[in-house]
Amino acid sequence: MTDKLVLTQPDDWHIHVRSGNVMHTVIKPTAECFGRALIMPNLVPPVADVKQAKAYRDSILQALPQSSLFDPVMSLYLTDNTSLDTVRAAADCPHVCGFKLYPAGATTNSDSGVTSVSRIMPVLEAMAEHSLVLQVHGEVTDPHVDIFDRESEFIDQVLLPLRTEIPALKIVFEHITSRQAIDFVTEHENIGATITPHHLMYSRNDIFAGGIRPHYYCLPILKRRTHMLALLDAATSGSPKFFLGTDSAPHVRGKKESSCGCAGIYSAHTAIEFYAEVFESMDALDKLEAFASFYGADFYGMSRNTGKISLQKSSWEVPPFYQVEPENKNDDPCLWELVPLRAGETLRWKFVG
Ligand code: DOR
Ligand code: ZN
Repeated sequence: MTDKLVLTQPDDWHIHVRSGNVMHTVIKPTAECFGRALIMPNLVPPVADVKQAKAYRDSILQALPQSSLFDPVMSLYLTDNTSLDTVRAAADCPHVCGFKLYPAGATTNSDSGVTSVSRIMPVLEAMAEHSLVLQVHGEVTDPHVDIFDRESEFIDQVLLPLRTEIPALKIVFEHITSRQAIDFVTEHENIGATITPHHLMYSRNDIFAGGIRPHYYCLPILKRRTHMLALLDAATSGSPKFFLGTDSAPHVRGKKESSCGCAGIYSAHTAIEFYAEVFESMDALDKLEAFASFYGADFYGMSRNTGKISLQKSSWEVPPFYQVEPENKNDDPCLWELVPLRAGETLRWKFVG
């Protein structure tokens, strides 16, 4: 039985690290384990140009010890008004690798997102010319479309036509959740997909197990168990189209346990351990390294990391919460607790450096 895993240092190709005190709490585990992480730009206001991305990246690096080698890779937030100059500047910046498409209103801080892909076609064409990658939150926003069908509708309404119109544009279909998304990615060129730990471990039943459980609420929402099983097969298949992206999306307790709770699951505290458990449960630990450390870098045309990380087989308990320093002194500190995925549960693997 394997009780130690040594992997090439992995990358997290989709993460929200926020800003301020939340960022100071969440950045450390990611920077310790991962070589690079693709930082999502949905701050308020959004990170929509290179100047803002550089400032945001600097603030992330400043939150880390000087000795850290962690490399935040930036994605810019697409709006209806993104200019061709911004695309050119992004192509010239070594720290920016693409643009994130949030359909306006689809998820957290997406109000400034794109109202219709047809409006940004010249920008997408320029991105393809400059080999910039489009990262997509793939859900339609029509409130009449069932929330569990929004991803598959997006494939039909947006991705299929886009794939035909700009075949050279490299696309990452982010945090895929459905059999339809797996099929689409498998059948088309120049498209890869990130898969989160939570979509590999949970189905929609978990949101409603014995009551409403806000810490399982994320977007795209967890789907039926059959989709989870299909994602497990895709992640462990050895296909280079599927790679690691946690979509760790921290919101403090006060924002989650509310009459209108935010979407997002905080998983960065122990991300690689989750994937190790999942791959082990599929008897596919031999496929973990390529999924976590090779395929994403290859898709982005970046060099693979050369360092190594280790995980040890040992039982340990995930803390019930991590305390974020309240930004407003009068706030109850409980409201600023960050409840991680699998809070209080025992894990089988431990990252040891
Ligand atoms: O659950 C989610 N949370 N999905 C997203 O697309 C955004 C994210 C966030 O920023 O909180
Ligand atoms: Zn995300």
